[in-house]
Amino acid sequence: MQPTFLSELLVFAFPLPVLIFLSLSLFSLLLLFHQWHHPKDKRLLPPGSMGLPYIGETLKLYTENPNSFFSNRQKRYGDIFKTHILGCPCVMISSPEAARVVLVSKAYLFKPTYPPSKEKLIGPEALFFHQGDYHSRLKKLVQSSFLPSALKGSVSEIEQIVLRLLPTWNHNTINTLHELKRYAFDVAMISAFGDKKEIQMEGIKCLYQYVEKGYNSMPLDLPGTLFHKAMKARKLLNERLRRVIQKRRESGKQGGGLLGVLLGQEQQNQLSDSQIADNIIGVIFAAHDTTASVLTWVLKYLHDNQDLLEAVVREQERVGLKKMEGDRGLIWDDTKSMPLTTRVIQETLRTASILSFTFREAVEDVEFEGYFIPKGWKVLPLFRSIHHCPDFFPKPDKFDPSRFEVPPRPNTYLPFGNGVHSCPGSELAKLEMLVLLHHLTTTYRWQVVGDEDGIKYGPFPVPKRGLPIKVTSRDQKTTK
Ligand code: HEM
Repeated sequence: MQPTFLSELLVFAFPLPVLIFLSLSLFSLLLLFHQWHHPKDKRLLPPGSMGLPYIGETLKLYTENPNSFFSNRQKRYGDIFKTHILGCPCVMISSPEAARVVLVSKAYLFKPTYPPSKEKLIGPEALFFHQGDYHSRLKKLVQSSFLPSALKGSVSEIEQIVLRLLPTWNHNTINTLHELKRYAFDVAMISAFGDKKEIQMEGIKCLYQYVEKGYNSMPLDLPGTLFHKAMKARKLLNERLRRVIQKRRESGKQGGGLLGVLLGQEQQNQLSDSQIADNIIGVIFAAHDTTASVLTWVLKYLHDNQDLLEAVVREQERVGLKKMEGDRGLIWDDTKSMPLTTRVIQETLRTASILSFTFREAVEDVEFEGYFIPKGWKVLPLFRSIHHCPDFFPKPDKFDPSRFEVPPRPNTYLPFGNGVHSCPGSELAKLEMLVLLHHLTTTYRWQVVGDEDGIKYGPFPVPKRGLPIKVTSRDQKTTK
C-alpha cells in the first residue's frame, strides 16, 4: 500500500520513537474514552452524558447558567440522570420521591460528602460530616438548642440587634447582603454563646471572616494564599474557643447558648474541646450566609412587588399596635401572627432556592429506582428543580406567596432539606427574618440602586452586587 501524504509528513516531522510514543498515547486516550462511555459493568446506569475523560461536563456547568445546565439535562434524560462534574461521577435526582429515598428512607446508603478543604476549615468533628451514633447524639443537642421553646427567650435579644442595626442604614445606601451578613452573624453568636459580653465578639468575628474567605478559595495551603490565611485564622479561632470553654468548665457554670448545651453533658458523655469547637464553628457557618442570602432575596422581592409590600406593612402595623397597647417589645407569639410575612418568606425560600442541591455519596453499590449507582458515586438531590417544577408549583417563576395558603404536596418543598441531616436551625432562621422585617417594614422604605437584575454566586445565589439599596424612614420620600 502506498504511504499516504499524512504518514509521509509524520515520518518526516517526527523520529520513529516519538511516533511510537504518540501512537501509544493516542491509543490509550481512545481506550480511556471508550471505557468512560462504555463501563465494564453492564448493570443499567442512569441515562446521561459523562462528557470528556477527567473533566467530564465541568466546563459546561461553569459556562452555562447552572440552573439551565440541570434543567436541560432533566428535559433530555428525565428525573434521574448521570453526569461527571468537578472530578466526580454524579447522579442527579429531581423527583420528590427519589429525593426522599436518598435523604430519608435509605439515608444510611448515602452519606453526606463535602470537599476536604471545607471539612478542614469548619472542623472534622462538626456534625455535618458524620453519620450514625455520633451524628444523632450531636443532632439532638443542636436541635434542643433551636427548638421554639428554647428560642422564645431570645426574641428580645434579636430585636435589640435589629434596633441597633437599622438606624445605621437610615439615609444611607447600603450593600444589603453585607449588612444582613453582619446581622445574621450577630444572631448566630448569641445562639452559639448565649451571652455575647462574655466573649471577645470582634476578635472572633474578624478571625471568622478570614476563615470564610477560605471556604470558596482554591484549597492551596501555601504562604500568601487565601486558603493558608483561612487555615491560620481557623487555628487561632480554635485557641480562642478553647479559652472560652476552659473558663466555663473552671467556673462550674455551663452558661447559655449552644455552648452551654454542649458543655452540659454528664461526665461520662462529655464532649472533647475540639468536638465542641468544631460544632460551634459549624453552626455559625450554617446559620450565617444562608439566612443573610434568603433575607436579601426577601427585600428584593418585596421591593419588586409594591402591593405585596403594602399588605405586609399593614400586617406588621397591626402587630405594632398590639405591642404599643401592651407597652412591650416583640414576643414569640407576635411572630406567630404574621401569616402573610411568613408566606413571603416561604415563597422566597422556594423561588430563590439558595441551596440548589445537596451532596451525598453512595456508601456501597446501590440499586436505585431501576438503575445501578456504583459505590463512591455522588448523588445530588436537586432542591431547586423540585421547587421549580410546574407540576408541584404552577407558574414556578412567578413570586406568589398565596400558593402557600395551602400546604405544598409532601416532599416537594425542601428549603431546609429532609431526613436525618435536615436543618436544625429552620425556626431560628424564620424568627430572625420576621423580627427584622417587622421593624424594617414599619419604620423604613428602601429603593434598589442601579441595575436591579442579575445573580451572583457567593457561594449562594444572591442578587447582583449584593443588592445595593437606599434606605429612608417611612415618613420621608425615597429617591433613586
Ligand atoms: C434560611 C436559612 C437556612 C437555610 C436555607 C438552611 C438550609 C439547610 C439545609 C438544606 C440543610 C440540609 C443539608 C443537607 O441535607 O445536606 C441544612 C443543614 C444544617 N443547617 Fe441549615 N439552613 C438555614 C439556616 C440555618 C441556621 C440559622 C442554623 C443554625 C442553627 C442552621 C444549622 C444547620 C446545621 C447544623 C445543619 C446540618 C445538620 C446535619 O447535618 O444534621 N441552618 N440547612
